[in-house]
Amino acid sequence: MPETVTASPRSKGRILIIDDEYDIRESLETLLSIEGYTAVTAENAAQGLKRLEEGSYDLVLLDLMMPDRSGLEMLDDLRARDRETPVFLITAYGSIEVAVQALKSGANDYFSKPWDNEKLLIEIDRQIARTRLEHENRELRRALKVRYAFPNIVGKSERMLAVLDLVAQVAPSKSNVLITGETGTGKELIAKAIHANSPRAERTFVGVNSGSVPPDLLETALFGHIKGAFTGAVANRKGYFETANHGTIFFDEIGTLTADMQVKLLRVLQEREFMAVGSNEVIRVDVRIVAATNADLKKLVEQGKFREDLYYRLNVIDISLPPLRDRKEDIPPLVDHFFDVYCRENAKFTDDAGRSLLRFEPEAMQILMDYNWPGNVRELENAVERAVVLANEREVPASVLPEPVLHAGGVRLPRDPGEPLPPDASLFEIVAEFERRAIIEVLEQVAYSQTEAAAKLRVPLSTLNQKIKRLDIPIRRKSASN
Ligand SMILES: Nc1ncnc2c1ncn2[C@@H]1O[C@H](COP(=O)(O)OP(=O)(O)OP(=O)(O)O)[C@@H](O)[C@H]1O
Ligand SMILES: [Mg+2]
Repeated sequence: MPETVTASPRSKGRILIIDDEYDIRESLETLLSIEGYTAVTAENAAQGLKRLEEGSYDLVLLDLMMPDRSGLEMLDDLRARDRETPVFLITAYGSIEVAVQALKSGANDYFSKPWDNEKLLIEIDRQIARTRLEHENRELRRALKVRYAFPNIVGKSERMLAVLDLVAQVAPSKSNVLITGETGTGKELIAKAIHANSPRAERTFVGVNSGSVPPDLLETALFGHIKGAFTGAVANRKGYFETANHGTIFFDEIGTLTADMQVKLLRVLQEREFMAVGSNEVIRVDVRIVAATNADLKKLVEQGKFREDLYYRLNVIDISLPPLRDRKEDIPPLVDHFFDVYCRENAKFTDDAGRSLLRFEPEAMQILMDYNWPGNVRELENAVERAVVLANEREVPASVLPEPVLHAGGVRLPRDPGEPLPPDASLFEIVAEFERRAIIEVLEQVAYSQTEAAAKLRVPLSTLNQKIKRLDIPIRRKSASN
């Protein structure tokens, strides 16, 4: 079983000790534990590498001489995959040459046996503080850069920052990009950000929804037509490709293109030229293509519904947007962002700087964090917009949340009070279930009089009503005999 890799909250850091001598491991482990570090040991190079794969460490203490491998070789291996984790080498054979070699190979410091405990601890402390600071600075710079380049895109999760790094990297190039992700994850927003951060930013961005335009209309829309090309073509008309010349075309829902349109698009991608409907004059264009889909295009290719050659042409760079439920740390900053946007739009609850004064009450925020957001950021945006419209006071109650969000909390919980809770229930779900059972118990005692139950539970009647609704509590009518 892999060893647990989380340091206790009060740990000063996680240190991996790799040494073949039991006594050394033991004494280092004791020394470090007493000092408040979490120490993990490995007795040879192979085990050490395995530990490093299983978890992350703030520092590695590495023995230079081990039976299976020299410490220097191991260091090379380690540095090949991880340039950051600091390594202190420890050896019985303290020679200047070895020390120099060790530092050249990427060790951060060097101690010879027997070492001075006090000095070792001071250096470990310093090194860990230094690495943390560097790491924090890097993250800060990254977040700042991201905010600067994408002022309207909110996200602080590692996954979203990685997406934005990639966007920043590919934006300046001419490569075609395929953006994938569930509905509402921000595909169109990213497509626009690619355009806005490219040398084409001053030129036109044209969005085409491949799914909502009928195929024959799509052809003339894309390529244009000349006067008389068909009934109703009373004048020449430029298509999207010409409009977007030197700019970007965004093909949304690319998976819905008909076979015929797939061939036509492929031709433009290959030749960079096309003819307007009814014309035989070749028009050359320089257009960057960004496509998006929430379908599994690869699967469509396997099923023969999407051309493989077109797929590879479009998918030069693949940007995949994670669903909101996989990056919940983005929820609070998104909520703040949408509060700002919609308070301004509704001229409601803003301060002098135009920022929102609203916040969700803690229970509401917990519900937002626990919900699984099938509609992703769009669904969250709608929920916040609705909350702004309905809000009467600065602290927004849970009762303004949309029905599906409100009701999700209790849905998968057992209905029978005797039944145990599901083992994977979240704290919120557990609390909700206890709340539900407590309310039912009191309702039973007062024959389902909600006024009496509210008094007994010492909550306002309106609060009880909200909870009854949200927790899906069945309300029986007071029976006449009671
Ligand atoms: N990271 C984000 N920061 C701020 N707003 C976002 C973010 N992601 C999405 N949004 C907002 O959420 C809404 C939905 O985003 P968008 O239309 O780009 O999603 P989509 O993936 O194209 O959805 P669909 O597949 O349904 O077309 C938009 O209003 C967008 O501005
Ligand atoms: Mg979209």
